[in-house]
Amino acid sequence: MNSTSKTHTHDVLVIGSGAAGLSLALRLAGSLRVAVMAKGPLTESATRYAQGGISAVLDKQDSLDAHVQDTLQAGAGLCAEDVVRFTVEHAQEAIQWLITQGVPFTREASPTTEHVFHLTREGGHSHRRILHADDSTGRAIELTLESQARQHANLDLYEHYIAIDLITTHKLVLADRRCIGAYALNRTLNRVEAFRARFVILATGGANKVYLYTTNPDVATGDGIAMAWRAGCRVANLEFIQFHPTCLYHPMAKSFLISEAVRGEGGRLLLPDGRPFMQRFDPRGELAPRDIVARAIDSEMKRLGVDCVYLDISHKPAEFITRHFPTIYRRCLELGLDMTKQPLPVVPAAHYTSGGVVTDLRGRTDINGLYAIGEVACTGLHGANRLASNSLLECVVFAFAAGRDILQVQHALPAPPPVPAWDESRVTDSDEEIVVAHNWDELRRMMWDYVGIVRTNKRLERAKRRVDMLKSEISDYYGNFRVTNDLIELRNLALVAELIILSAMQRKESRGLHYTSDYPHTLPEAKNTVLTPTAD
Ligand code: FAD
Ligand code: SIN
Repeated sequence: MNSTSKTHTHDVLVIGSGAAGLSLALRLAGSLRVAVMAKGPLTESATRYAQGGISAVLDKQDSLDAHVQDTLQAGAGLCAEDVVRFTVEHAQEAIQWLITQGVPFTREASPTTEHVFHLTREGGHSHRRILHADDSTGRAIELTLESQARQHANLDLYEHYIAIDLITTHKLVLADRRCIGAYALNRTLNRVEAFRARFVILATGGANKVYLYTTNPDVATGDGIAMAWRAGCRVANLEFIQFHPTCLYHPMAKSFLISEAVRGEGGRLLLPDGRPFMQRFDPRGELAPRDIVARAIDSEMKRLGVDCVYLDISHKPAEFITRHFPTIYRRCLELGLDMTKQPLPVVPAAHYTSGGVVTDLRGRTDINGLYAIGEVACTGLHGANRLASNSLLECVVFAFAAGRDILQVQHALPAPPPVPAWDESRVTDSDEEIVVAHNWDELRRMMWDYVGIVRTNKRLERAKRRVDMLKSEISDYYGNFRVTNDLIELRNLALVAELIILSAMQRKESRGLHYTSDYPHTLPEAKNTVLTPTAD
């Protein structure tokens, strides 16, 4: 057996460097030695691309109850109300901390005692409650936290490392199983290294790259969900994939989002002939929750056989548009589209994984010492549909919650035992990389075509057969060849695709983000879809 080339030991291993991972790392680094691992550079994450903002009740006309109610309504009966209230009530603490870290939220042009920060509006919110940093809020948060992390003496940053699997003590009874680290591929040196830690945190983001069209960056391959499942954790509500209604439709624009805030500030959706259509689908029009808007667009595109619809805000003054949306304006202009003068072509794309690894209010998973925070987790906040701008909030609020818990229990958890070596004795270098590339494409197209915005029993059954075949091929490949970044991601994507399909098959109704033509109605009782791994 080839032994693992290196073992790193820390108090805490945080896998993921988006808003969730960096917030937690910074909270703990005052008292513990923390490793932060990222697949690429520290800042490459969904967080980095968030545009609209982060929700919090800061307006006197607004209330915590209204934020709770809006979240519950979007969640279509499946939000855990205690979790929603917990998150909403901790929003101000989270925002205050971000401001203290240095996040430059956009201020009111003429601040009053009541309004220091400009608050924008997004679909499903009954009030203006979205703090933002122009139209690149995520970038402002990510770069601020990155800069703090790079300066912190207690943080060890492992960039260009991809975690492969969690290391657990293999107790048959799940309650006795403990997570003691993870194996990761050092992508620079191309070797597997072991990380041993008292606490391991999954902050790996969502799984939206499982779809052909997505607003997400390449890192969003569901690795955390797959690793947690293989280790024995339950996952929940994975059928609820949020499709963002307005991704720019342009051959040169990979995954470029046109923020919901454009509709929040008066943008209208138009058919190719210039007619508006949203009022036919919902009285809230362009400000209906995004599942309704995405389905309306999908339905109009299919009805008319068109490639896209249009989002028009050109009736607003040019100065207003360039001031509110400088990033979107610049990027569109680079592509030859002037949003101050013309409508933008848009299509829906996979955007957010509402389900994930089951956690409690402290971010704890089913396995001792293993936490999940941010988009990888299913805390119960989002239910069947996430309300816009609630996810960055969830990242910070649950980073704090997990941090508090870890600081409280750290002395009760003994040092982890030594970790076993990574076994490479039975594998060789691959001579057929094309298999991986082909299966990547096939999987993502299959999910788009068969498990997309509108589902049917037949399509789901077809998808299940295809994913079974792909999984078996990938498993063969994984058993015979040395791991590469693409192979690790493909293996995870195929597993998460299967979990999404199985969850969708279990839901015999349409609710929130899950719509099936075979069961178009919502059942009277709302139930979570919880999948449990079989014991190994
Ligand atoms: P991410 O920010 O995605 O970070 C994941 C991290 O995990 C990365 O560092 C990645 O490298 C690392 N990672 C993953 N797998 C591995 C592995 N195997 N090994 C090592 N590292 C790994 N939400 C809002 O609330 N408001 C918005 O305005 C908003 N706008 C959005 C716009 C876009 C275009 C997108 C894509 C999302 C938007 N969202 C928004 C959603 C929000 O950005 C994400 O839900 C949130 O940022 C997720 O943060 P996270 O920390 O959980 O994960
Ligand atoms: C957007 O800016 O439209 C994205 C907001 C979100 O996903 O919460």
